[in-house]
Amino acid sequence: MRMRGKLGFAIWALFLWGTAVARFVVEKNSLRVTSPDSLKDVYECAIGNFGIPQYGGSMMGIVLYPKANGKACKSFEEFGISFESKAGGFPTFLLVDRGDCYFTLKAWNAQNAGAAAVLVADDRIEHLITMNLPGEENSHAEYLPNITIPSALITKALGDSFRNALSNGEMVSVNLDWRESLPHPDGRVEYEFWTSSNNECGPKCDSQIEFVKNFKGVAQILEQKGYMRFTPHYITWYCPEAFTLSKQCKSQCINHGRYCAPDPEQDFSRGYNGKDVVIQNLRQVCVFKVANGSGKPWLWWDYVTDFSIRCPMKQEKYTKECADKVILSLGLDLQRIDTCIGDPDTDEENPILKAEQDAQIGKDSQGDVTILPTLVINNRQYRGKLDKSAVLKAICAGFQETTEPAVCFSEDIETNECLENNGGCWQDKAANVTACKDTFRGRVCECPVVEGVKFVGDGYTHCQASGSGRCEINNGGCWKKTSEGRTYSACMDDESKECKCPPGFRGDGANTCEDIDECKARLSCQCPDCKCKNTWGSHECSCRGDLLYIKDHDTCVGNKAATGISWSFAWILMLALASAAVGGYAVYKYRIRRYMDSEIRAIMAQYMPLDNQAENPNNAQHSVI
Ligand SMILES: *[C@@H]1O[C@H](CO)[C@@H](O)[C@H](O)[C@H]1NC(C)=O
Ligand SMILES: *[C@@H]1O[C@H](CO)[C@@H](O)[C@H](O)[C@H]1NC(C)=O
Ligand SMILES: *[C@@H]1O[C@H](CO)[C@@H](O)[C@H](O)[C@H]1NC(C)=O
Repeated sequence: MRMRGKLGFAIWALFLWGTAVARFVVEKNSLRVTSPDSLKDVYECAIGNFGIPQYGGSMMGIVLYPKANGKACKSFEEFGISFESKAGGFPTFLLVDRGDCYFTLKAWNAQNAGAAAVLVADDRIEHLITMNLPGEENSHAEYLPNITIPSALITKALGDSFRNALSNGEMVSVNLDWRESLPHPDGRVEYEFWTSSNNECGPKCDSQIEFVKNFKGVAQILEQKGYMRFTPHYITWYCPEAFTLSKQCKSQCINHGRYCAPDPEQDFSRGYNGKDVVIQNLRQVCVFKVANGSGKPWLWWDYVTDFSIRCPMKQEKYTKECADKVILSLGLDLQRIDTCIGDPDTDEENPILKAEQDAQIGKDSQGDVTILPTLVINNRQYRGKLDKSAVLKAICAGFQETTEPAVCFSEDIETNECLENNGGCWQDKAANVTACKDTFRGRVCECPVVEGVKFVGDGYTHCQASGSGRCEINNGGCWKKTSEGRTYSACMDDESKECKCPPGFRGDGANTCEDIDECKARLSCQCPDCKCKNTWGSHECSCRGDLLYIKDHDTCVGNKAATGISWSFAWILMLALASAAVGGYAVYKYRIRRYMDSEIRAIMAQYMPLDNQAENPNNAQHSVI
């Protein structure tokens, strides 16, 4: 709602500073048509001032036009129509015609019927306009804060083309894109909030203070960390010179008609006057200036919240006394704030309010500030619902990519696109690992990093743990089994990404590894005197009688010196150790002969825990460690 219109109740007019006709800027996003071929192109559309535009993101959808309720002024329920997209289907962007009812009602009806966005086709040939909220007199529309789908106004020409294509049975698919709707040049976002200290103007004032309360936490933290720079602003009007000495001007203005605000109750005879609002607004600017001067600009948020709670107009506490208490409780320098406010009765400019009036006139692409409240992010006016997560999403889109603070990826502003069908991304339900990441830019399918282990893959159909530590997570997606007190794994904890069955098993390594029956497969233990016994993951080989099995030769040898079974196995171990240590075949051969020497054997035996090793001689064939 435009303040200028609102002031019509007054007998005379207060004027917005500077311009006779305010220059309002239509904020836009782009709409790319991907089918049909005849319409393929990028078009501009205007962001509606309600719902939640997906600043920084984009959305793909199929356009549908409801012939029966083309203007969407009636609930689609009456027609038994639903635009809910089916699983795996694209969301529906409902095309509706302008006219007959509020834009917001069209959006609300579309949203209730399951549409993901609403495209309003203009009904006249003109430049794109911003679809706004109904004025205060229609604030009975309780659904307004509940509109969450984005809305865009498209030109009459594009609307006609869409309808033609649809009536020819063509599929119209489009991509709504808000990625360039806000400049995002660097790692810090500058934003302004144009508001008023007036806390008695119905839903409009309530929604402003609600927003300040909800946004305060994140605003303060991000300001302290240097991610954002915030400046509050206040609109003032001026009284035409001919009326500066009139009773009305005196009650609504300070500094001899230079700075005015409309009467809060729109009734000059009772309650607070416009003048009181101007002074409180000026005090809020000064609180910010003084707080900023002492390096704590974020105290403005505390002051404004506390002031609205402690000094409401309703309780007749909208006074300097009450304001001063709040200022002192925040540890701010009252003297400096009073100096900043100056004398409201002098016939001179107030430098602070003069600067506010100058700022009202938009620079460059910003446009004039004519709506209260107005949020300006990186010099562009924000369009959409004044709601913490919607605004945060827009602010996040104002950071150069990859410089966004962590809060931009928090649950607060996620799109919940991962909840349905895992956003179409890869996931491993068993290990509770997903590639779907919810961000303010919409969902992305990206192989995750879980507990320091990086997953690699396309993010859509496959992701696989890689690098060291990968076997820690769901065994790297590989086969693993424990049986007979032993555990075998097909995951190799190295740079490889593959699963490989351990020796003694065969299979794909991912889902199955089967024990190889080495005895049946005649892989070893084949000498005439050998006795082969398959075990899980391995096999045992022994020799008949007193013979000693030499594994590396797969043979049984005479063992005159052996005094018992444990001695033979001690030998095997010695041989294995020796061969590993020396490595050379010749040396190895030499060692066999040498070790046959019973004297040495006896000496070696003193150093080795022979009995333990003997219990499970075949373990040496496969490492389970
Ligand atoms: C809007 O949402 C609020 C809270 O979710 C709910 O209580 C209210 O009934 C909704 N209003 C409408 C008109 O749907
Ligand atoms: C706030 O302080 C910073 C430096 O401390 C200064 O650059 C900035 O202009 C100040 N902002 C206002 C609105 O006074
Ligand atoms: C899966 O992980 C998420 C967070 O990583 C956790 O919130 C959720 O409870 C886990 N689910 C299961 C079934 O373990």
